[in-house]
Amino acid sequence: MAKLLAIETSCDETAAAVVLIHGRGKNQKITALSNIISSQIPLHQKTHGVVPEVAARAHLRKINNVVQQALKKAHVSLEDISHLAVTTGPGLATSLLVGTEYVKGLSLATGVKITPVNHMLGHLYSAFIKTPKMSLPSINLIVSGGHTYLVLLKDKKHFNVLGQTVDDAAGEAFDKAAKMLGLSYPGGPEIYAAAKIGKHDYNFPRPMISSKNFNFSFAGLKTALLYKIRDKRLDLNKKQVRADLAMSFQNAVIDVLISKTLSAAKKYKTKSITLSGGVAANIKLRTDLTRGAKKIGTKVYVPDASLCTDNALMIANAAAIKLQNGFKPQPYNKIQINPTLPL
Ligand code: KG4
Ligand code: ZN
Repeated sequence: MAKLLAIETSCDETAAAVVLIHGRGKNQKITALSNIISSQIPLHQKTHGVVPEVAARAHLRKINNVVQQALKKAHVSLEDISHLAVTTGPGLATSLLVGTEYVKGLSLATGVKITPVNHMLGHLYSAFIKTPKMSLPSINLIVSGGHTYLVLLKDKKHFNVLGQTVDDAAGEAFDKAAKMLGLSYPGGPEIYAAAKIGKHDYNFPRPMISSKNFNFSFAGLKTALLYKIRDKRLDLNKKQVRADLAMSFQNAVIDVLISKTLSAAKKYKTKSITLSGGVAANIKLRTDLTRGAKKIGTKVYVPDASLCTDNALMIANAAAIKLQNGFKPQPYNKIQINPTLPL
C-alpha cells in the first residue's frame, strides 16, 4: 500500500501529513495516519497580518520538527514513504520555498519522486476527505484568505472556474474589517465571535449580488464599514457597537456568497455543493448555506473546521486524487514554486 507524506507551507501554517492510499481507480481511498499543524498565528498577531520574512523564518525553524512528528504519529519512518507531495503555489514565495526545498532534500535522499500540489486544489478537493464518493457534478465555493473561487466540478478530474473575486478575497475582507474594528488577527473568527451578540443590522451593500456573472467584490464593503463608523461617529470602544458592525459586515459577506453559490447550483443543476477554505470554518456560513441548499434540494458537504483552514492532509488528499487521475510524480529538479499559480 502506498504511503504518502505531504507538506504545506504556503502561508503561515507549517504542516505535514502522512496518508495511506488504498484501493485503485474509482475505489481509491485514503486513510489519514497523521496531520500535524504548527500555527504561526500568535507570531502574526503583533503585526495584524503575515510579514512574509517572519513567516518564512518560522517555517524554517519548525519544518523538520513538524515532519518528524507527522512520521512518528503515523508510526512510519522516511524509508516507508513511497510518495512525496508539496504545495508549490499559490502563496508567499518565501514560505513556499521552505516547504518545496525541504521536500526536494527528502527526494534527493530517498529517490522518491514528488507530486506538486496547487494549494487551492487542496481546498477544492477537501470535501472528498470525508466523502470520497460525493455525488458529482458539484458547485464548490472556496473562500480563503487570499482567494474566492466558485468552481463547477464535473468529475474528479475536470472543473471550470465560474467566477472569482475581482478585488479582495472573502477572508481578506474579514481580516481587514476586524482590524478596522480593533479586533485581533485572523479576523474571520474574531468577527464571528463579536457578531454573536449583534442586534442592530446596518444593512451594508451586497456587492455584485445581482450581477449576471459569478464574480465577487468585497473591497467596497470595507469602505462602507469605514464610512459608517465615521458618519455615525460610532464609538468602537463600546462592545455592542463593535458587535453590531461585525454582525452587519458578516451578514453582507455571507449573503453574497450564498446567493451566488445557490444560483450556480441551480443553473448547472448540480447534485451537491461543497464549501472549503478558511472562511468555511464560519458556522453561520455553514448553517445558512446548508439551509438554503436544502430549499433547492441540494446537499452541502463541508470539511471539519480544522480541515477548512490550511493543513497538509488536504494537500495529501489532492495529491492522491492527482495520482488517481494518472499524474506522474516528478524528479526533485523539476519542482518549482509559483506564488501566483491559478486554479
Ligand atoms: O484557507 P486559509 O486558512 O488560508 C489561506 O489559504 O488563505 O484561510 C484563512 C482565512 C483568513 O482570512 C481567516 O480570517 C479566515 O480564513 N477564517 C475565518 C474563520 N476562520 C478562519 N473566516 C470566517 N470565520 C471563521 N471562523
Ligand atoms: Zn488556504
